[in-house]
Amino acid sequence: MEKVKIAVLVSGGGTNLQALMEAEARGEIPDGEISLVISNNPNAFALTRAKNFNKKTVALNKKQLGKDLFEEQLINTLKQNDIGLIVLAGFMCILSFNFTKTFANRIINVHPALIPSFCGEGYYGLRVHEKALEYGVKVSGATVHFVNEIPDGGKIIMQKAVKVLEKDTPETLQKRIMKQAEWKILPASTQKVCAMIKKELI
Ligand code: GAR
Repeated sequence: MEKVKIAVLVSGGGTNLQALMEAEARGEIPDGEISLVISNNPNAFALTRAKNFNKKTVALNKKQLGKDLFEEQLINTLKQNDIGLIVLAGFMCILSFNFTKTFANRIINVHPALIPSFCGEGYYGLRVHEKALEYGVKVSGATVHFVNEIPDGGKIIMQKAVKVLEKDTPETLQKRIMKQAEWKILPASTQKVCAMIKKELI
C-alpha cells in the first residue's frame, strides 16, 4: 500500500509543523507523506515554513468565509487531495460534529498539557500554560489524541510529562513543553497512526 497522505492544519507559528517536516526528512515517518498544509489564517508563518519545505499550501480565510463555508471548503480540499490523515498542529479552530464524523479516526491533535488537565474549550496556546502555573502544578506536558466531537476529548495516543520549574513564566513553560514533548510525540504519533491506517487497524 502507498504512503498515507497527510494534511497538516495550522494557524500560527508552525513549530510543530516544522518538527513534523524535519522528522519526515529524516525518514521517521515511513508510512506517511505530508502532502498538504492548510491554514485558516493566510498570514500564518507556518505557511512560509511549509513553502520552505516545498509543501503544497492552501489558505482558507475563516474570518472572511465564516464557519460553515470554511468547513465546507476544508472538507472539499481534503477530499480532492485524497487525504488519509489530518494532523492538527497548532490549529486554533474547533471542528464541528459533522467534520469530526466525516473523518472519524483520521484526525489527530497535539495539546500542550496532560489531558484531562487544562483542556477543552478555551484552553489553547499560551492560556493553557497560564492556567497550569496559576493552579501550581509541578508537572505538565503534552498529549496527542484522536479528535472527536468533544474538544480534546478523543482517545489518547501518546503523552509526555515535563517538569514545571519555580521560575517558569507561561512562555518558558510553553517552550520547554514544545521542545521536550510536543516536537517529539507529534511526529512519533503521526507515524504510529499512519502505520495503523496502512494495516487497516483503524
Ligand atoms: C502548540 O503549543 C500547540 O500544542 C498548541 O498551540 C501551540 C502552537 O504552536 N495547540 C493548542 O493549544 C490547541 N488546543 P506552533 O504553531 O508553533 O506549533
